[in-house]
Amino acid sequence: MPRRPFAGLALSLLPLAVFAAKAPPPSSYGPGQLPAAGSASEANPKAAKPAPGPKAPAAAAPAKPSGPPKIEFVDPASPMVSALKRHGETAAGVVSKRLLDALNAALASGGPVAAVEVCQTKAPALTAEKLPNRSPVTAVKRTSLRLRNPANAPDDAERAALDRVAAAVAKGEPPPAVLVQRIQTSDTAKPEWRVYKPIVAQPACLVCHGDPAAQPPGLRAALQQRYPADAATGYAAGEWRGLLRLTVTP
Ligand code: HEC
Repeated sequence: MPRRPFAGLALSLLPLAVFAAKAPPPSSYGPGQLPAAGSASEANPKAAKPAPGPKAPAAAAPAKPSGPPKIEFVDPASPMVSALKRHGETAAGVVSKRLLDALNAALASGGPVAAVEVCQTKAPALTAEKLPNRSPVTAVKRTSLRLRNPANAPDDAERAALDRVAAAVAKGEPPPAVLVQRIQTSDTAKPEWRVYKPIVAQPACLVCHGDPAAQPPGLRAALQQRYPADAATGYAAGEWRGLLRLTVTP
């Protein structure tokens, strides 16, 4: 049985992939991509409202427009979502380890600027790797409220997840260990399920995400050149950095 290709693990997952000469493709949406806000009827002409006319007969009315997607959080402790939560968390572990291994190897072999080269050449192989054990995770993305690459900007559902974590953090709580979200784009469509895992800044991250004044000049210049709107500096170790989003297609 052919499996869905693991298209979601795209280049932008690898922090260093960005240094590719070309801007990375607009992030790593998989099959579960949400329509942009307000675009539902463009995307699905059949769902468009009929032009108001004097005698639009009720019988000819097309399927009712689906409106904006319905975004809900589901208690991660609910038995209903335990399998998909587990798949999401397993995939999050695998993907985080791959990223961290690539990062550490690159940093060790010549420092942040040289690491860029190494990671750039490694990125294609890394991103082509599938998740093990026939994982039902079909897309992975990293996002944040303080972005380095605007291509990693959250969609509406990701934004809701980020806001939820930010609210907990603002109250002095640790980020929730996991979030589970159901997105319903229409009454009839199958829901999209997402699992979110918070990403926390570690000491190894701070060379590129810590105090910019402490960055080696070559690195600072490279980052500034590629990310003029970089908002992803000034982090401390242990600080909440963003979310890893995993779309699970059971
Ligand atoms: C060598 C520099 C470097 C290091 C070290 C580094 N990053 Fe990044 N990080 C980047 C770059 C460059 C991007 C932009 C990636 C892109 O273009 O998609 C990025 C992007 C991200 C993003 C995606 C959201 C955004 O702001 O665009 C997250 C989340 C992130 N990094 C977390 C981490 C974490 C966690 C660590 C430590 C484990 C880390 N980074 C270490 C350079 C680095």
